[in-house]
Amino acid sequence: DPGSTWAEVDEYLVQTVLPEDEVLELVVDENQAAGLPPIDVSPLQGALLSMLVRMTGARRVLELGTLGGFSTIHLARALPPGGRVVTCEHEPRHAEVARRNLDRAGFTDVVDVRVGAALDTLPQIEAEGGEPFDLVFIDADKPNNPRYLEWALRLTRPGSLIVGDNVVRGGRVVEEGATDPTTTGTRDFLTALGEDPRLEVTALQTVGSKGWDGFALALVR
Ligand code: DHB
Ligand code: MG
Repeated sequence: DPGSTWAEVDEYLVQTVLPEDEVLELVVDENQAAGLPPIDVSPLQGALLSMLVRMTGARRVLELGTLGGFSTIHLARALPPGGRVVTCEHEPRHAEVARRNLDRAGFTDVVDVRVGAALDTLPQIEAEGGEPFDLVFIDADKPNNPRYLEWALRLTRPGSLIVGDNVVRGGRVVEEGATDPTTTGTRDFLTALGEDPRLEVTALQTVGSKGWDGFALALVR
């Protein structure tokens, strides 16, 4: 089973290259205790999200799919002073856990957790007329990913980065005749990314503690 080796290597890499992270260890424990599904980004992937925020100099970050706030903390901690994360979460119970975790991590005033279907919240965010987002992390319900991409494009500017999680899903993305909306939504998302002349795109397969999956990265031209 390659998965067990991937997980073992992930553990080795975490131990070797990441600093101790008591806040995020606590968050993982809290999420587990609250019964949240353990589908957060991995610690190494979270470190990549932090790095992308820093590399792009992002000040305004939009996240779709908060869950317990594990990825949100990685995004928030890389912001410059005055930076902000707006994060959308469908499940009130998840949002409540996330708010508690974010409070504990010291990001109460940095992160705006919006509860509700992102497709309802996104028009509100647009109507509020804030500055464009510099980075968007799409990690919510996969069937809506094509819609989330449209919104990400409306709410960003040239130079913004759009990151999509879970674009491989153990290879299911290439399953012939797939009808399940998670797979078709992911495929339609990738097709839309590839066809959009406004975007420079890549997609990378990943292995590790989350098995086999992948990220899409799109830079707005
Ligand atoms: C699932 C969702 C995710 O965002 C993820 O990273 C892994 C799994 C899921 O819905 O199963
Ligand atoms: Mg995900």
